[in-house]
This record gives sequence, structure tokens and C-alpha cells, in this order.
Amino acid sequence: MIASPRPFSAALLLFGWSLLGPGGLSPTLHAQPAAAPVIRVNAASAKPGSPLLYGIMTEEINYSYEGGLYAELIINRSFQHSAQNPDYWSLVKDAAAAGTITLDRSEHLNVALPVSLRIDNTSVLPGPVPDAGAVPAPRQRVGVANAGYWGIPIKPSTTYRASFFAKAGNGFAGSVLLSLESNDGATVFARAQVAGVSGNWNKYEAVLTTSANVQPTAGARFVLLTNSPGTLWLSQVSLFPPTWNNRPNGLRPDLMRLLADLEPKFLRFPGGNYVEGNSPETRFDFKKTVGPVHERPGHRNGAWGYFSEDGMGLLEFLTWCEDLRMEPVVAVFAGLFLNSNVIPAGPQLEPYVQDALDEIEYITGDVGTKWGAQRAKDGHPAPFKLTYVEIGNEDSLNGGTRTYDARFTQFYRAIKAKHPAIKLIATIENVTSVTPDLIDDHQYYNSGQITARQAATRYDTADRNGPRIIFGEYATRGATPPTSDLGNALGDAAFLTGLERNADHVTMSTYAPLFLNVNPGASNWPTDLIGYDALSSFGSVSYYAQKMFSTHYGDTVLATVIENTPTERLTAERGGSAQPAVVPSLFASATRDTAKGLIYLKVVNGLGTPQPGNIELAGVDIAANGEAVVLTSANLTDANSIAEPTKVVPKTEPATGLGRRFTRTFPARSVTVLILKTN
Ligand code: AHR
Repeated sequence: MIASPRPFSAALLLFGWSLLGPGGLSPTLHAQPAAAPVIRVNAASAKPGSPLLYGIMTEEINYSYEGGLYAELIINRSFQHSAQNPDYWSLVKDAAAAGTITLDRSEHLNVALPVSLRIDNTSVLPGPVPDAGAVPAPRQRVGVANAGYWGIPIKPSTTYRASFFAKAGNGFAGSVLLSLESNDGATVFARAQVAGVSGNWNKYEAVLTTSANVQPTAGARFVLLTNSPGTLWLSQVSLFPPTWNNRPNGLRPDLMRLLADLEPKFLRFPGGNYVEGNSPETRFDFKKTVGPVHERPGHRNGAWGYFSEDGMGLLEFLTWCEDLRMEPVVAVFAGLFLNSNVIPAGPQLEPYVQDALDEIEYITGDVGTKWGAQRAKDGHPAPFKLTYVEIGNEDSLNGGTRTYDARFTQFYRAIKAKHPAIKLIATIENVTSVTPDLIDDHQYYNSGQITARQAATRYDTADRNGPRIIFGEYATRGATPPTSDLGNALGDAAFLTGLERNADHVTMSTYAPLFLNVNPGASNWPTDLIGYDALSSFGSVSYYAQKMFSTHYGDTVLATVIENTPTERLTAERGGSAQPAVVPSLFASATRDTAKGLIYLKVVNGLGTPQPGNIELAGVDIAANGEAVVLTSANLTDANSIAEPTKVVPKTEPATGLGRRFTRTFPARSVTVLILKTN
């Protein structure tokens, strides 16, 4: 809850480099009646924006890829989630049939996938029963069902591509029957049959297509049955729906659509804490994530506690960048584990430095190099552009600070020696032996909007002589879980006005975490930007705030000042421990799109009441008619959800009476982008 605005005195709050004295930015209180705020934009006082200001950040958290962006529908497809049991797989059989399923380590596809699922069909009925299409007469079918990541999504007129590795034994001479069916087995949505499984490991593929009249549901399972006595060993059972750009082993189209609409300019991956894990085995090791998917061993995700099949590997991250025209910002493991173990600089760190060099070679090397050749073999002969590599993640945590200078320096010298053009990002400021190209700053504003609003001015007076900043993770939290609500979005938007005004210094930014599977048990970290279940997805309110900022962003930053800034006293009752504080309630930034002849003026009104403001533009003529994009809702806790995916979304309306000077009332609890046409 936001307390009502303080009726005091006018507050004067200056934003922008042109009007700031050396003392920097601070609220000034005057013993006068409050005057209407004035937002001044000076088009003659401009500096270049950052073309990379808005990006996205991602890692395997909250089932972001497993059961998320990576379109695979089968959970525990390689049977490695548990050493004891085939988790998420269950025995399915006809009433008259007999059989068992077990994990079998004596039979396996290869060294990467050291365990198989063994189906023993011990039915005694004679001979194979043919699957008779629409009206089967099954008697001795035995097999397994997989319930997917909180359900298998069934949609009408949809083609699903199934594949599995299998080996037959003990006289198995039947077929493998595949079906998508309701959880109780009563309704079959699609089916296929694979015959001729041999006594050697082979890959088998089939297509299952639903009919046009199927009702969408996630209450479905994937079933794989043997129809005669004998043994069938299975490895890597996979099921893919259609993917973005029809890429094999590809990504979920609805989530990619949401991302594409943000127009992100870079992707920071693969973490986050996911880079680090708790041990060499549970960190992200790119070498285990390339090559054919059935030769990737997967790994236990040391950061977030569940198994990663690593179908979402380095090449998939890179093609994701390619598909959305994003610059890759690749983080490499730098010796710090989450459990505080550190690999010190020196010979012990050298293999990890070499890993980083190999990863860079995989991304950028020509096909004559070892890792460039591997990339070509994996299906992508053309090298990718790579400008940014981050050394580690949050190395101030877990006692990492005192060793980071030496660790960073070891990576820096080795990478710069081979790739002088690559810009290296340090995760903390205390690097003194060499000069990082950028510092990655992270901040979670976890006390309603107090700290986010305070942070909105933190870069107005920052020293421009040091490295540039990538704001690699931010979010206003303390919301109504699971995804960000309007109150959080207001905090984020206020903060983003500060980044826009200071885009010469903070050149890149990204919200985190990006994704959340909203099913109970999937969440590692509320609050998140995009939510989904098996069937559908939605952008949070912060998603729409970010989209308003990133899709209305020019090439030039215009000096923007607010006079008579209204303030209010906020308490921390929406979560977090920040002290109650008097903070600004109106925020603004402006950029100019030279080619389009537009000025985007962004204004955030955090108050629970409408805020009239006078807008004055200097150095430019403005047409009388423009547009306004407005994001608001009745309550700070209003949020989008699976049930109401567009409850709080921006609305575009005509804006009239514009010019060099005009007045406008900004709705309570709102983010506004005014699209001004220059004459
Ligand atoms: O975004 C969630 C986590 O927050 C990231 O993995 C980590 O970098 C940060 O602490």
C-alpha cells in the first residue's frame, strides 16, 4: 500500500546531467505550497542512447527450459532424474496383461546415457495383437506413460514428433504403440505405431497428429506400449510439438512470440547461478551441452535443484539469439561455486580458462578450428558474432570477493591475448589488476517500490570515467506471486527511466528471472517476467512495462528534468525490510528516434491519484497530435495470470493538444509513453 502524497511544500527534484551541479541529485524542500510538476525536455541537450540498452537474461530456474522454453514435452526423457526409480514414468497395461518397468544400468545406449528403461511384457496371451487403428482390440499391451511437465499440452490439428531409442530382447517381436491420451486413458487424441524394433540400439521416429475438433487440454499423457511378450529397452524418449521457425530440438512458439515482442537486443546466458552450481559436475559445462542430444549426459542443476537434460545447450542458446537477432552475452564459470568452494587463480583454474577459450572458439571459430569444426558438425558452419563474455556471476557472494581480482585477471589475460576485441565483463567492482570493459550490476528491489524508486536516480551522478555498466539483473519484488504485479511494474518503470537517462553509462540492462512455470512446485524464485503452464503463457505487468520501454526507444537521449517533483511516504508493507521513506512519485525520461522523427517521453506516476503535469520541450517543434500508450489498473496488486493473461496491459490512445508546452494528467498508478511527432 502506498501512503497518500505528503501535502507539504513543493519538492524540487532535478533529473539530468545538464542541470545538475557537482553536489548531485537530492530532493530540496521549500516552504511553499505545492506547485504542479513541470517536466522539461531539452532536445538541444542530447547524447547518444545505447542500442543495446534492453536485453533479456536467462538461466535454468523455475523450469525455464525444462518444461518451459525448450519445447520437449517428456519429463525425465533419459531416465536420470533419480538413480532408483523411473520418476515421472508409470506402468500402463491392459487388464489381462502382465509386465513390469525398471531402470536398467546393464543395458544403455551410450556412455552419456548410462541407464535405460526396461519394459518386460510377461503377458501369456498368444501372439501379437495388431493395433487396429480406431477400434483396437488390445489384450496384452504393457508399457509406460509420461505425464509431461505438469501435463502434455494437446491442441487441435497439431503434429507432434515422437522419437525414442530402443532395443528388443527376450523374443519381443511386436510393435511399439504410441499415443497421446487423457490421463485416465479413456480418450485417445492421436496415435502412431512403430514396428520392427531390432535387437540393437536404434532410433525410431513417428508422427502423431490431433484432429481439428480436439479441445485444448493439458490433462493428457504420452503412452508407449509394447503389444507382445518380450523385453523392450528404451533410451531418450522425446516428443516435440511444433517449434519456433520449425527448428528441430527447438523452442516453444508462444514464449518466443512474447520474447520477440520485447525486441530484445541481447541475451545474457546461461546464468545467473546456473553457471556456477556447487561442483564441477553441477555447473554449466558447455562441452556436455553440444553434439547430438542423445550424446549429452545432462547434469544436476546445482543452483536450482533439478535435472537439466541439456537439450537446451550452447548451440540452442546461440540459435535462439540468431532467431531473435540478439547479441549473445555469454557467462563462463570463473571458479566460484555456490557452496563457497573456490578454485583459486593459478594452475587449478587453468582448465576452466581453457574451457572459456574453447567455448569462444565454438561460438566464433572458423570450421578449421577444433571447436568451430564441432559447431559445423552440430549443424551451424557459420560462426556467430560474439562481443561480450562475462567472467563468472555475482562473485561477491559466498566469499568470492577476495579471490576475484586474480581469477578475473587470469581469464582476462588469456582471452584478450587471443580475442582482443571481445569485451570482458566483471561481476564485481573490485578488479584492480586489469580494467574490465564493463561491470555487471545486479539489484533486486525487494521492498515494494521504495528501493526501486531510490535507485531511479543512482546513476545520475555516477563517475563516467570507470567501466560501463551492464545491469544484468533487476526486478522489483515483494509482489503477489508468482509474476510481477502493477506495483512491481511501477518500481521497474521508475528505475528504467533512470537507466534511459544514463544510457551513456549503463549501456545494457535486463530483468531477471525471465521465466516461471506457474505450476506448484516449479518455482525457485518469485517474482518473474513471463509465466506459463503446459498449454498457455502470459506476460506479467512488468513484462508490459518493459515492452513499452524497449519498443519506444530512440537513438538519442534528451535531457529530462522534473521540477516540483511530487513525493510520497512509502512503507515496506509490500515485502522486504526497507525503512519507510519519502521518495519521489513522478519519474521521466525522453529519447528521440531521429529516423522516425519521434520523441518518446516516458512518465511514471507512482501516486494512487491522478497527477497533472506541465510538459515543456525546448529545441524542437512538436505536432499537435500524437499518441499515448498507458499502462495502469485499479490496484497495485493487479496482475496477469493464466486465467487473466491480459488483465493489465497497455492501451494506446490518441493524444491531442500537444506542442512545445502542454499539460497532461497522468493516471493514478500509471506508466505512460507519449509519442510526440516532431515537425
Ligand atoms: O535471478 C535469480 C538469481 O539471482 C540469479 O541466478 C543470480 O545471479 C541472482 O542472485
